[in-house]
Formats: sequence, structure tokens, C-alpha cells
Amino acid sequence: MLDINKIRADFPILERKVHGKPLIYFDNGATSQTPTAVIDTIVDYYTNYNANIHRGVHTLSQEATDKYEEARIKIQKHFNAKHSYEIILTSGTTESINVIASGFSVILKEGDEVIVSALEHHSNIVPWQMMCEKAGATLRVIPMDEDGSLRIDLFEEMLNVNTKLVFCNHVSNALGTINPIEKIIKSAHKFGAYVLIDGAQACPHIKPDVQQLDVDFYVTSAHKMCGPTGVGMLYGKQELLEMLPPYQGGGEMIDTVTFEKTTYAGLPHKFEAGTPNICGGIAFGAAVDYMNAIGFDNIQEREHQLLDYATKKLLEIDGLKIYGTSTKTSVISFNIDGIHPYDIGSILDKLGIAVRTGHHCAQPIMDFYKIPGTVRASLSFYNTEDEIDTMIEAVKKAKMMLS
Ligand code: ALA
Repeated sequence: MLDINKIRADFPILERKVHGKPLIYFDNGATSQTPTAVIDTIVDYYTNYNANIHRGVHTLSQEATDKYEEARIKIQKHFNAKHSYEIILTSGTTESINVIASGFSVILKEGDEVIVSALEHHSNIVPWQMMCEKAGATLRVIPMDEDGSLRIDLFEEMLNVNTKLVFCNHVSNALGTINPIEKIIKSAHKFGAYVLIDGAQACPHIKPDVQQLDVDFYVTSAHKMCGPTGVGMLYGKQELLEMLPPYQGGGEMIDTVTFEKTTYAGLPHKFEAGTPNICGGIAFGAAVDYMNAIGFDNIQEREHQLLDYATKKLLEIDGLKIYGTSTKTSVISFNIDGIHPYDIGSILDKLGIAVRTGHHCAQPIMDFYKIPGTVRASLSFYNTEDEIDTMIEAVKKAKMMLS
């Protein structure tokens, strides 16, 4: 059992007021809040050892390099990658996806097929469209069902010898659906296709084991899991990262440079051109430590309680519909008959409650349901039943004002 009061004390922002009301933060899907342990790591870096890494012989540079590489090892252990050099630190999930899309755009050939799912965030659609256009490959889509799950039966039928890549999120950002990625990976591998899993919305709730999953690429962002913005991870199997060309040219990603020819550095540096987000990388390590200290079993248990509680209470409101009802994380996407989600979100904000409204960068899902968007409450282990009660009253009030 988690001591919720103790956990909430780890997050200074939860003390603040918005429009004179205590902040109720239900927009964890967009970004999670930051515990003191991570904030302290950031302050310590800039106060005591801010320096560039992998470059200087001086003490500060050495200290910063050691901490940055320690963080990479923490991340490696968290995801159970075989080698620390299979963890590429990027600016976030979007950049991680673009590294792979850019690499495969020169490897794929006309007639190749790639598959994405209907549940993707735009960041796991647009880079692949750009890649397919460049390579002359065809993009195919795994359809979704009314309950927000994927039609895995149709996916199995789509696979063939031309399928080269499959992209799917582990958890849908708009609905919270947990996709059967083990099955997707196994089926794709039968046809020799590589699989990239977007774990941005899964990693706050689930601890993935990349070796057990046998996934080829797994990507995520630190800021969804109590870390800072501007830093994320690309995991790739060694042989695949070695096969792919570098994403950007610059300092630190080379072995030798002359005007005639440049040879590239080994992993992970080949994909880490320029000065990285050093402080962010170190703080990502601190966030991983924080989440593991709480424990993912505890996080899941707590978030399930909150999800069940909020779902039951919301469904008592007449005319309220929840989108996405299959196995999912603590995300509730809903609408009230005849009311625009933006209007509900604006009233909730005036009452101190932060939710996301709109299409959630997942327009194909909204098109499927024929709606402009939803109100999305994405709950975290530091939220409480009292906060949910306050939201329920606020939604009822919004409904009354807007009907
Ligand atoms: N992808 C983030 C969300 O779902 C920003 O809100």
C-alpha cells in the first residue's frame, strides 16, 4: 500500500493553487509532474558540475561525463537492455522515431510495406508517411474496434513477405488502450519484419523488458515518467543500430574527419551528435530511480483503483460517454452529449482542474468515433479519490452551465 500523503509531499507543484483553487492535476498523459528528487538533481548539476561531456580532461567535465553515463546504465537496467550502448539518449520520443524513420528511408525499397496502427499519435504516423514517400514503400493501417482495441486478427492477415516494419504504441495516448505488443512482435517476426514500439504512454505505468519482448526498437520520453522535458530514449538491438546510418552529422558522432572522408563513432555516439541535454539525461536517471523506489506493482495497483473509481462515478452522469473501454491504463477520455470538450475543459480549469481537451494529436481515432475530440483525464499514482470527487462535481456543474 502506498502512503499517498507521503508521495504527494514529493511533488511541490501539488501545493499550488490555480484560479484560487487547489490544483488538481489530471493531465499526466501530456506530462507528469516532477518530484523533489529529480528537481534536486537538476539544481545540483547546474550548481556544482555543469560542464560539457566526453570532451574535457578537467574535473567538472569528468564528473558530468560519469553522471551522464551512470544515468544511461540506470536506463539500460530499467528496460533490461543487453548493453548500455543500445540506449541512445535523444530529445524525446518524437526524435527517437525520426532517427529510425530517417535511417529506414534509405534502406526500404519500392514495393516494401510498413504497418502502423490506427491508435497512433501523430508522431508515430507522420514520420513513417514521410519515410514511405521517400522510399516508395506502402503504409498500411491496423484498424481499430469500437472499444478502442486493435483488430489483431486483421493485422495477422496484413502481414506478408513484403512487410518490413511494424510500428505500434504500447499504450494509446488518447484512450489508454494497452496494446498486445508481445503478440504483435511475435507475428511480425515470423515474416522477418522489424517492430518499433512507442512506449511514451506506457512507461509511466509499466516497466517493459526489451529483451523479454524481443522488440527491435523501443522509444520513450522522460517527462511522462517524472523526468524533465527535452530528453528521451531510443532502445535498439545492437545489430540494427549498427546497420542504420547516423541521423545527424556533428561533433562527437565521428571517429575521424577529413575533407575527403569521415568515419563514424561506434554506438551510442553515432546517434548523439552535438552537445546533448546533459542535465536532462542525468535527471532522467533520477526519475527512473524515483519510479522504481515507488515500485511499478504499487503504481499499477493504485492507478487501477483510481481508474475504477473515476469510471464508475463519471458513468453516473447522464449523457456522458467514455471512449476506449478495453484493457487500459488510468486514462479516461469522455464527452457529454451536445457539449464541446473544449468548453468542459475551460470550466474545469477555472475550478483548478487540469485535463486535456481536443484530438490529443490522434485525429484518426477521433475520425473513427466521428467526434472533434474528447476531454481526457489521465490519472497518476499521486492523484486521490478526493480529487476525482471534485472533478465529478465540476463536470456536473459544467454540464448544467453548458446544456
Ligand atoms: N502526447 C502527449 C499527450 O498525449 C502530449 O498529451
